[in-house]
Amino acid sequence: MTKLNGKVAVVTGGNSGIGYASAKDLLDNGAQVVITGRNPEAVNRAARELGAEGIVADQSSLSDTDHLVEQVKAKFGKIDILFINAGVVAMAPIEVLTEEQFDDSMNINFKGAFFTLQKFIPILSERASVINLSSINAYSGMPNTAAYAASKAALNSLTRTAAYELAPKKIRVNAVCPGPVKTPIFGKAGLDESAINEFSSAMQNRVPMKRFGESGDIAKLVTFLASDDSSFITGSEYVIDGGVILNPILG
Ligand SMILES: NC(=O)c1ccc[n+]([C@@H]2O[C@H](COP(=O)([O-])OP(=O)(O)OC[C@H]3O[C@@H](n4cnc5c(N)ncnc54)[C@H](OP(=O)(O)O)[C@@H]3O)[C@@H](O)[C@H]2O)c1
Repeated sequence: MTKLNGKVAVVTGGNSGIGYASAKDLLDNGAQVVITGRNPEAVNRAARELGAEGIVADQSSLSDTDHLVEQVKAKFGKIDILFINAGVVAMAPIEVLTEEQFDDSMNINFKGAFFTLQKFIPILSERASVINLSSINAYSGMPNTAAYAASKAALNSLTRTAAYELAPKKIRVNAVCPGPVKTPIFGKAGLDESAINEFSSAMQNRVPMKRFGESGDIAKLVTFLASDDSSFITGSEYVIDGGVILNPILG
């Protein structure tokens, strides 16, 4: 397909899950894609598999982000699509959530996203599309997700302000807010396999469409928002969750 021919995309956290699937879909639609991640081996392996450019950069490090922008600028000049996807989840009740878990959530999911956007602005082309990967947790009071949910609510707020500020440059900024999606993120949150299975079946029962999202479901929405098909959409938050937030009272 050629919908994104001639466009250059950067996908943060592109070595796994939603970022990987989105990088693949952007490539399949004709874009050139740069993926980032913090683990060199994982980034290089994914880049090789995808046929993308891989650059190691920790989203919570402002100097890494400076370096990332320099490298992308040197290779491509400007970019057309910025998918700020890298994120982590820390699952614990407020009483026991550690300072480290709090800082990781905020530094990667919000502060890192903020400065990624800020530092890429000078090399965003006219009509560029920025997509922030948020979550339906931004709207919920789901137990054990206080810091994660707050980081995503902050990201949605940033999306609105950035959309307004960047509209004069014809740059669009939108947020994608998935419900539960089958990816390695829950294992990385320290949940063991039985806890993940228990969480999965409890969640699955709450989803009216009775399934977890797949990374590919989210990738299709990302490609739509990245493309000129969505050229009049900015400042929006797209819930993509199989209907999970429709019935918080009886669900
Ligand atoms: N899965 C869900 O149910 C769900 C629902 C709503 C929203 N989300 C959001 O979707 C996004 C992608 O998550 P996923 O589910 O696809 O999980 P995933 O498979 O763990 O992917 C997350 C990606 O972000 C990378 N990453 C994490 N911290 C980073 C950092 N400091 N710097 C650079 N890269 C970093 C990870 O690299 P490593 O391999 O090094 O960890 C990985 O490539 C996240 O923002 C998450 O909050 C997920």
